[in-house]
Amino acid sequence: MSSPIGRRSFLKTGLAAGAVAALPAGTERAVQAAAQAPAIRKGGPRPVVIASANGHRFKNGGTLTCVAQAFDLMVKDTDVLHALITGVNIVELDPEDDSVGYGGLPNAEGVVQLDSCCMHGPRKRAGGVACLEGVRTPSKVARAVMQHTDHHLLVGQGAQDFARRMGFTVEVDLNTEHSRKLWLEWKRRVDPEHWLDPDKRADAGFRAGMEMVREGLIDSEHYYGTINCNGVNAKGEVCGVTTTSGLAWKIPGRVGDSPILGAGLYVDNAVGAAGSTGRGEANLYGLSSFLIVELMRRGMKPKDAGMEALRRIQAATVEKRLLNARGLPNFGVSFYVLGADGEHAGVSMYASTYAVCDEQGPRILPTEALFPGKAGE
Ligand code: GLY
Repeated sequence: MSSPIGRRSFLKTGLAAGAVAALPAGTERAVQAAAQAPAIRKGGPRPVVIASANGHRFKNGGTLTCVAQAFDLMVKDTDVLHALITGVNIVELDPEDDSVGYGGLPNAEGVVQLDSCCMHGPRKRAGGVACLEGVRTPSKVARAVMQHTDHHLLVGQGAQDFARRMGFTVEVDLNTEHSRKLWLEWKRRVDPEHWLDPDKRADAGFRAGMEMVREGLIDSEHYYGTINCNGVNAKGEVCGVTTTSGLAWKIPGRVGDSPILGAGLYVDNAVGAAGSTGRGEANLYGLSSFLIVELMRRGMKPKDAGMEALRRIQAATVEKRLLNARGLPNFGVSFYVLGADGEHAGVSMYASTYAVCDEQGPRILPTEALFPGKAGE
């Protein structure tokens, strides 16, 4: 590895020192942390953290967003996965994000069930949990599965029992007033007579959910909402984490892509990382995060690899109920792709954004969209 560079030259090559004060809240600390970081080395990978856009929106009453917090820790030589999980914990704990952790939109029975997985590139280890109830930070439980068991995925009651034994607080209900109110509204629309033909009921559930998105009651990104966060430090150590409350109003027990290695997240320390948000079923079908990392291994750039995964999702989407008036997928899927050299891209089926934090500070960037317009058009 090449030699470390000093604070002054880092600021010169990164962000002009005089401009630091003018940056948005949280930026200054991240930039200064980077400048002081012993882990920054000349010629090494460019340290960067990327995430879904909620990674630079929620602060849970603090001063830093997920990507700023993770970058801040990462450049201080904290273990990359620990830095990323500390970042996503902000979003998991913030009741304002109704797609992740505490206050995540519940399943069809009104119970919040959470999914998460994490991967440690250098150690080649992974852990995950699915359908976990009662623990606000499933990403930490996923890490505990990685650290303390021989397994990669614990689900349901077993995951909760494990969390309890590992000392996590298990709560009776992770709903907030907001998530409960939206669930009640959904229930009212879907189940006015208490029971329907199962097919009609599923269809009614989907339509009611989409209707609530169109009416602006639920952020479209949050219907399948999730956070994925990936980072690489100056030593080239790549890690990733994905955490979610999954599809809003899902059938109890439904697991999406987020906790599944290769779907919601894949990390290979030699190549990079990819993770997802959006319709988990579409991603599970093609294990897109694994695909993206494999395409990068064969030489594709993060953006091109991500776009190819989106094209494959489109090719696999043939059922009429999943197509819009243009014959294109009527749902969103986004991938957050990070090369081991620090090159990154956010790609999505339709226009969206993603979060980044590097030596220039935390910010939101547009994704590269496969199709113009919106999913529902
Ligand atoms: N991507 C989140 C889910 O489908 O559960």
